[in-house]
Amino acid sequence: MGTVRIAPSILAADFAALGSAITAAERGGADLIHVDVMDGHFVPNITIGPPVVRSIRRVTSVPLDVHLMIQDPDRYIEAFIEAGAAMVSAHVEVLPHLHRTLTYIKSLGARAGVAVNPSTPIGALQDVAELVDFVLVMSVNPGFGGQSFIPRSELRIREARRLLDGAGNDAPVEVDGGIDAHNVGRLVAAGAEIIVAGSAIFGAADPERATREMKAAALAGVAC
Ligand code: DX5
Ligand code: ZN
Repeated sequence: MGTVRIAPSILAADFAALGSAITAAERGGADLIHVDVMDGHFVPNITIGPPVVRSIRRVTSVPLDVHLMIQDPDRYIEAFIEAGAAMVSAHVEVLPHLHRTLTYIKSLGARAGVAVNPSTPIGALQDVAELVDFVLVMSVNPGFGGQSFIPRSELRIREARRLLDGAGNDAPVEVDGGIDAHNVGRLVAAGAEIIVAGSAIFGAADPERATREMKAAALAGVAC
């Protein structure tokens, strides 16, 4: 381990001013931009679709990390990748053919991730551990920004890291939900290499500075 990437989640940004929010995060050193897609079925909230991803793609050179919290991801994956997603994660809870979905994402030229809810055993990923490009450990129940970090998630990051290592896969573990400059170091020390943060960045008075501080706090965890 040794790398850590910060992925500000635009869910907490002002949707009427997405361009300037993203530019601020980029100036603060954002490594990815995390885009939360919600359909009102898998989660009780509705956000954005491919047209918004396409517009975002035009205003930043940072890779887009699209997190699909939707009931039928297979139906929309191609549209999101065409719109500019470099990384796509879908939830294991809605995928009876997880292997097929991951293979499909890769075949379209994007990195394929699988997202896991707080109540889903990490072991559910055992049989795709060799195949995944990243694992997204949810540290809140998906659907909303600004929720509290679920403490057990730290253990689950370790479990996901062990699972990948056991499969000989050095793919990163991403963690998403309730992360701030205070808890991020511990999560990186536990094995998280991609850090999603929404309200801690876009809820701050100065998102550029908040991104920079989040990265510094995350890098302190690398040293542990
Ligand atoms: C939650 C989303 C998260 C969310 C995180 O369903 O997947 O990406 O934006 O927001 P914070 O950092 O505010 O918990
Ligand atoms: Zn997310």
